[in-house]
Amino acid sequence: METPSTQFLSTLQHTVAELPPEKALSILAETFPGKICFSTSFSFEDQLITHAILDHVIPIDIFTLDTGRLFPETYSVWNSTNNRYQTRIKAYYPNEHALEAFVQSTGPNSFYESVDNRRSCCSIRKVEPLKRALSGNAVWITGLRSEHSAAREDLQQIEWDAANHIIKFHPLLHWTTAEVRAYIDLHNIPYNPLHDRGFVSIGCAPCTRAIRPGEDFRAGRWWWEENSKKECGLHEKSTAITINQ
Ligand code: ADX
Ligand code: SF4
Repeated sequence: METPSTQFLSTLQHTVAELPPEKALSILAETFPGKICFSTSFSFEDQLITHAILDHVIPIDIFTLDTGRLFPETYSVWNSTNNRYQTRIKAYYPNEHALEAFVQSTGPNSFYESVDNRRSCCSIRKVEPLKRALSGNAVWITGLRSEHSAAREDLQQIEWDAANHIIKFHPLLHWTTAEVRAYIDLHNIPYNPLHDRGFVSIGCAPCTRAIRPGEDFRAGRWWWEENSKKECGLHEKSTAITINQ
């Protein structure tokens, strides 16, 4: 979509601020009919948002990026979510030619060898499919929370993503882990059992490990990369414009 004015984004921000997720999502779905989507990685946060959308029958497209390297547990919770809500969550896949060429030239686990390889892998398996998934949409819902990392602390619930030409909305931005868990328990929502085994942020299997108590939330992602920004390119901060309140 065309870059919206700061005034428009600011009004949107005030409209959805403080609202329960299902209310905010309904308002956005009415404002942008047929042009609003939600990306799920089947994390705690994403399962809560999926529940809010499907339980309240809000017309928002839900999709996932299947990198081909997800945990077996992630595929299981995807399947149980389909069953629980009588739905088929749409999956986007990496471009076969790009992936074949990349694995052929660098090997299957080259992300451990250099940050460049890791970024190329994320770009092929996640970022390019994401662009296809977002195309034609005006709003992209995510499960980002401030608690995840320092880089996410100063996000606003509504942002303009200049790289993808889309408005982003993070309904759970200010929720705590305890609040997310309580909501999941209250509504008996299916969730990834890895969350009970020390996994906080769950991405691809070779690039995610459990964290120890007290460790940073993102410590379990790309842990061998001491100095990288630990982002895969889905949510690059440099491309986001946030609005002053
Ligand atoms: S990442 O950038 O490090 O991979 P993270 O795992 O914290 O992201 O998830 C943040 C949000 O990004 C999720 O709530 C979800 O909206 C989106 N996301 C991350 N991975 C995927 C995926 N594989 N498929 C769809 N959405 C995803
Ligand atoms: Fe590749 Fe790891 Fe990125 Fe997944 S998280 S796309 S396996 S580098």
